[in-house]
Amino acid sequence: MNDPIPTPNFIGMLLECQQDALDAIADAEKSVDRLRIELLGGKSELAKLTKQIRLVPAVDRAQVGTVVNQVKQTILQALAARGTTQQTKTTLSFDPTMPGIEPPEGHLHIVTQAIEEITRIFERISFIRVRHPEVDWDWYAFGSLNMPENHPARDEWETFFIEAFPDRKKFPIRERTIRNRIVLTPHTSNGQVREMEKGVLPIRMINIAKCYRRQIDVSHTPMFHQFEGLYIDHEVSIGHLKGVLDYFAKQFFGPSRTTRIRPFHFQFTEPSFEVDVTCGVCLGKGCKLCKGGWLELGGAGMVHPVVLKHGGVDTTKYNGFAFGWGVERCYMMKAGTQLDDIRLLYSNDVRFLEQF
Ligand code: DAH
Repeated sequence: MNDPIPTPNFIGMLLECQQDALDAIADAEKSVDRLRIELLGGKSELAKLTKQIRLVPAVDRAQVGTVVNQVKQTILQALAARGTTQQTKTTLSFDPTMPGIEPPEGHLHIVTQAIEEITRIFERISFIRVRHPEVDWDWYAFGSLNMPENHPARDEWETFFIEAFPDRKKFPIRERTIRNRIVLTPHTSNGQVREMEKGVLPIRMINIAKCYRRQIDVSHTPMFHQFEGLYIDHEVSIGHLKGVLDYFAKQFFGPSRTTRIRPFHFQFTEPSFEVDVTCGVCLGKGCKLCKGGWLELGGAGMVHPVVLKHGGVDTTKYNGFAFGWGVERCYMMKAGTQLDDIRLLYSNDVRFLEQF
């Protein structure tokens, strides 16, 4: 290893090294950066040869040094040349007239779309969209709606209760009944007395909010949405209620659909009804889907005087109607959106959501 190397042999080795380097660069298999390290770095063939200059006879070392530098320059130039060709190639392959790559575009969740559609429909007949708390005092969800503590009608709603410890001494007697327990609202009807408490009459409210119930299966999710209509004015009749229901059915489900009301019972309405809409498949004739021509929409009724009194409304001058239905349920009943599992709405599977 330390034997002297005759000058011509050394120069021959240098030229061989240069040729190998140029071949490797021309081969274009490796990247320019990688080649730069392999051909000129500390472990390269050229570096090894540079260290062996001392084995060349002393008189020739300066001349051999110049050749080493020339080889290095040649390799550098070849590397630079390849770098530029590559760049030129990429620059040329960019065609500014080509259409761009479309970024992925999202859209509103289908429940949000349904909420917006329902809002627009009611706005056209001067109902105003409002929001009331989704976590509220027991009083607004039950007590004010004619369902005092321990009333059996409360069992209809599988409610999530939250322990609340307000400083009861701070509140007057009436407030103490109100600030008792807190619930995750099981329905949007808590908005009724809250809306009346604003003290502005007449009322045409559409309250759309999240509701919570302790149930989950193909047709229930523990969180869902309801829309609650409340209409308070002078001499309001069941005819007005029926008119609004039919209007909504035609706007939302289609002009050939209509509604019917059946007697039912709610503590906060008198009389109370269950509202059905004609089936979209058989249009009321009766088929496998609906069994009898009708699909159940939700509840409605004439607001109970006790509820009006809790809201501070003078029952000798005013009366009204209310209705409350599920947003998801209504949306599922629209033609073309027959979902066999309502939980799909909240599973956040983009493949499902992209269809709407
Ligand atoms: N809040 C009732 C429920 O969740 C639905 C309902 C029925 C709302 C009758 C109303 C009504 O406003 O008048 O089942």
